[in-house]
Amino acid sequence: MSTTATLATLSDSDHMADPNWWRQAAVYQIYPRSFYDSNGDGLGDIKGITAKVPYLKALGIDAVWLSPFYPSALADGGYDVDDYRNVDPKLGTLADFDEMAAALHEAGIKLIADIVPNHSSNRHEWFKEALASPKGSAARDRYIFRDGLGENGELPPADWDSVFGGPAWERITEPDGTPGQWYMHIFAKEQPDFNWSNREVRDDFLKTLRFWSDRGVDGFRIDVAHALTKDLAEPLLSKAQLPREGENAMGAHPYWDRDEVHEIYAEWRQLFNEYNPPRTAVAEAWVHAERRARYASPEGLGQAFNFDLLQADFDATQFRSVITKNLAEAKASGASSTWVFSNHDVVRHATRYGLPQGGRKDGDGKDGDGKDRGQDGKDWLLAGGPKDELDAELGLRRARAASLLMFALPGSAYLYQGEELGLQEVAEIPDVDRQDPAFFRNAGVEVGRDGCRVPLPWSPEGSSFGFGDGEPHLPQPEWFANFAVEVQEGADDSTLEFYRKALELRGRLQAAEELLWHANASAEVLHFSRPGGWHSVTNFGTEPVELPEGTVVVSSGPLDGGKLPSDTTAWLLTDN
Ligand code: GLC
Repeated sequence: MSTTATLATLSDSDHMADPNWWRQAAVYQIYPRSFYDSNGDGLGDIKGITAKVPYLKALGIDAVWLSPFYPSALADGGYDVDDYRNVDPKLGTLADFDEMAAALHEAGIKLIADIVPNHSSNRHEWFKEALASPKGSAARDRYIFRDGLGENGELPPADWDSVFGGPAWERITEPDGTPGQWYMHIFAKEQPDFNWSNREVRDDFLKTLRFWSDRGVDGFRIDVAHALTKDLAEPLLSKAQLPREGENAMGAHPYWDRDEVHEIYAEWRQLFNEYNPPRTAVAEAWVHAERRARYASPEGLGQAFNFDLLQADFDATQFRSVITKNLAEAKASGASSTWVFSNHDVVRHATRYGLPQGGRKDGDGKDGDGKDRGQDGKDWLLAGGPKDELDAELGLRRARAASLLMFALPGSAYLYQGEELGLQEVAEIPDVDRQDPAFFRNAGVEVGRDGCRVPLPWSPEGSSFGFGDGEPHLPQPEWFANFAVEVQEGADDSTLEFYRKALELRGRLQAAEELLWHANASAEVLHFSRPGGWHSVTNFGTEPVELPEGTVVVSSGPLDGGKLPSDTTAWLLTDN
């Protein structure tokens, strides 16, 4: 096939009607409270997203995934939902939502909503009803209530820990004022877990999925998709008896990744397929690789996140093995693969890649095995983000190289707002301003995820760098000015213009979901091609390397004559 033949582009309307639109989509995650504030209250909102549709269109993405925008007290950044079929009044109205959906669709951009089925907030009508109702009532059965252990029920039903630290059970006060039962919460205590054995819970979520599908939502991201079903047969296992990491591959854990969860998704799939094109879904399921396929199957949610690349070091061998494995798995399940480097839960990749790993600081200029060096950035954050440990320039160079490699891979690429600006993690958030429950429940162990959720800088000036007229809900550092959209727009070597160019080319180069590896003289170079003569070459090593034959169409950094410098990716087109 000649290169020109691969440059055809789908029209917006073809794209919107295509039932397979999701398979190789570039999906941009918006954390609504930190995107753009249209009314000056310091919180990003729905109208703010609508106002920025031209920005999203110019970025060249195929879909937007909105983190929760439902009414919420924000005990966990909106993942504590009060009402699943409404918009948080702090963010707008349902009419604003409809207007946003229409504007996105008009621009040829699909809309993915985040669904949080494992738990509601403790302000949900059902939970309030459960607290006001007696033990054993139908209202309590929608959640997971148990009597406590000990003589007077004063001990939790099990010694399980919550993900954010502290116990996974909270005691309530009964309507008559006496100390009462306990409820389970895998996350914060403001996030009581639903009882998915209860038919009413199942039906209510079907109603929610239909509600948003009817409003034009094209797909769903399913929060902690692997937690919904639980084995709570008495006696509950103690912490010491729970299967440990690596031992739960057979669905044997009482509350993670149980086989029964797939019955729920089979029912959801039937509902999704009633729509044209069918609604799509992607599972957030932190499960063992071999267990991911069922979440991603066509009878199930259809796609599942793979966080393997996000967790890998910036290392050719690791990248290659993750890519090979995940493509094979996706193929076996009938899904397309998913790739992601940053989201609202992790330290931004421009920062992770700039932190010491293995031998980099030892003068050999190379990464070692990356072990025990806080590669996920959490230790660095906890230490207050010491400047001498972060090489921000290196981090950004590698982040750009990694992102360009990701955009060349078969499957969907998930981007997180701000990465197109090359934003670094914000380490300097005073404790009084922190919001993440992981910080409050895990004092001294973690500072939480606020550093990647700071409102975006749109302009180099103004009190909130153009985010809005009010005081931003999380403080922005001075250096945000350098990363502002206005500064980067039209600037040749800016990360924003680089993302725009890469995404535009990706759209035009759409190729079958196949990848062919090419040998390279250096083991630190990854070279693969896609059908139609589209090549991606990344140099993970320290020395510049020869570029293969072909016409360079984009690179993540400046090239060195005909050579590819270290920490750089280039795309080339050839006639084969
Ligand atoms: C998911 C979300 C995370 C949230 C948690 C509980 O992991 O990505 O932000 O805190 O679920 O809902």
